[in-house]
Amino acid sequence: MGLHIGVVGATGAVGRKILNVLAERKMDIDRLRCFASERTAGEMLEWKGRSITIELLTEEVMMESFDYLLFSAGGEVSKKYAAVAQEAGNTIIDNSSQWRMTDGIPLIVPEVNGHTLRNYKGIIANPNCSTIQMVVALAPLHRIYRIKRIVVSTYQAVSGSGHKAIVELENQMKDTEYPSQVYPKRIAANCLPHIDVFNENGFTKEELKMVYETQKIMDDDSIQVNATTVRVPVFYGHSESVTITFESAPRLQEVRELLQNEEGIVLMDNPEALEYPTPLETSGTDAVYVGRLRKDLYDPCVLSMWIVADNLRKGAATNAVQIVEKMEKLK
Ligand code: A2P
Repeated sequence: MGLHIGVVGATGAVGRKILNVLAERKMDIDRLRCFASERTAGEMLEWKGRSITIELLTEEVMMESFDYLLFSAGGEVSKKYAAVAQEAGNTIIDNSSQWRMTDGIPLIVPEVNGHTLRNYKGIIANPNCSTIQMVVALAPLHRIYRIKRIVVSTYQAVSGSGHKAIVELENQMKDTEYPSQVYPKRIAANCLPHIDVFNENGFTKEELKMVYETQKIMDDDSIQVNATTVRVPVFYGHSESVTITFESAPRLQEVRELLQNEEGIVLMDNPEALEYPTPLETSGTDAVYVGRLRKDLYDPCVLSMWIVADNLRKGAATNAVQIVEKMEKLK
């Protein structure tokens, strides 16, 4: 028997991507159901040659039995309906930030801590997109050299703010008078060091997610993270400039080998041949790309790198689907 899977928020930016990724992977799916709000319930969508009617999300339907429910309809929807689904014995992979820091809820990047899901049932949180790509690249190095401190600046694509933000950038690129509705300032030809709300300590919520989620996924509260998250006029793909201080000095050749041999990472690091990842060249794929590897000029324990990944795929949909695959493998 194949799997019975439900996608909640199937008409949204990430939900649609989840449907694409599910169609691409070799997964035996018997029944795929799509849930959304009254706005689209009753409409049809095509998936792998099947016509699927979008169903209205209700508490009753979440009490039915599913193998997996993949949620991507925002925090409020997750808070209410994922809790009902869990109560009914279902396993939920939730893309919102609602459950990420809740004790007892696993926060999972399969390559890093997927093994902890053996025999688990219930809500599983999918981390923030910027955190996912960073921990994929850093976990293999943490195992050997132990990370003390990470300083990261992000260059985040507008697709991370949903479909309306993509439309806003498209229109502002053509029309200098087009108003800013999604972002607090014009995003075209600009950079905004402001993602999510500011906390009283001066960091934004997005920046603090990178701190606490990294510590939870790596299972190490001693890792210090200092993040600056920036929205840039890119449609798809987040980039990160990351500088790491390790306990022991890494050898550059060994770091290259470690990254090259790691599942899910593509090392693109030959700057003289213009080999370094960019969002335009790598979006639409599932890997985490690493380039611009270099040792600090002063401190042998410090290394810098550039990390790029598709925020809607590895940063959201692909990671969620890989969690399903990992759980199936662990059975
Ligand atoms: P709908 O398209 O019917 O409004 P995005 O993040 O791109 O804005 O997408 C949000 C997704 O979450 C959409 O699929 C949307 O469905 C769904 N959604 C939003 N609110 C609800 C709700 N109250 N119940 C069910 N689905 C919801």
